[in-house]
Amino acid sequence: MTNAQKWIASFLGLFLVLLILGKITKKEDTAESFPTMMGQMQETTQSANGLGLIKQSACITCHGSELQGTKIAPALSDLKKFWNRDKLINYLRNPSSFGTDERFVQYKEKYKNIVMPSYNNIDVKELGKIADYLLSK
Ligand code: HEC
Repeated sequence: MTNAQKWIASFLGLFLVLLILGKITKKEDTAESFPTMMGQMQETTQSANGLGLIKQSACITCHGSELQGTKIAPALSDLKKFWNRDKLINYLRNPSSFGTDERFVQYKEKYKNIVMPSYNNIDVKELGKIADYLLSK
């Protein structure tokens, strides 16, 4: 072998070693990140309960951090007196169609410039979880 051939051979050897090392470390990476990925997935499913969704959907900016009511929106307590699950889901999807009730006439007076937004962009299943949570309080 000439000197040049030796150089080429050793470069090829080095290249192969690096390639193999790269493959090995890559495998370790995926093996390590898998549990973290699962952890994150669990976290999102756990927080996707009614209360989590309420916090995510900014309901608390109007209704208060404990849904205790604020100057701009009523307290969300004792809702089971007035709503069942289906009605409440429908209400969240389209609040303006429930404005005739005596309670709502008063709300209109009290929270004059604020309207309860319609949440027909939230998945019905998730609205169901929100309704379940509100009705369980
Ligand atoms: C922009 C402020 C605002 C936001 C955000 C908001 N609301 Fe409201 N909400 C109101 C107001 C004001 C009323 C009173 C009714 C009306 O004026 O239409 C109301 C009424 C309600 C009622 C009826 C209360 C009763 O006594 O029956 C429910 C239930 C409710 N909101 C749930 C929610 C949920 C759940 C969210 C989040 C997904 C939310 N609201 C987000 C302002 C808001």
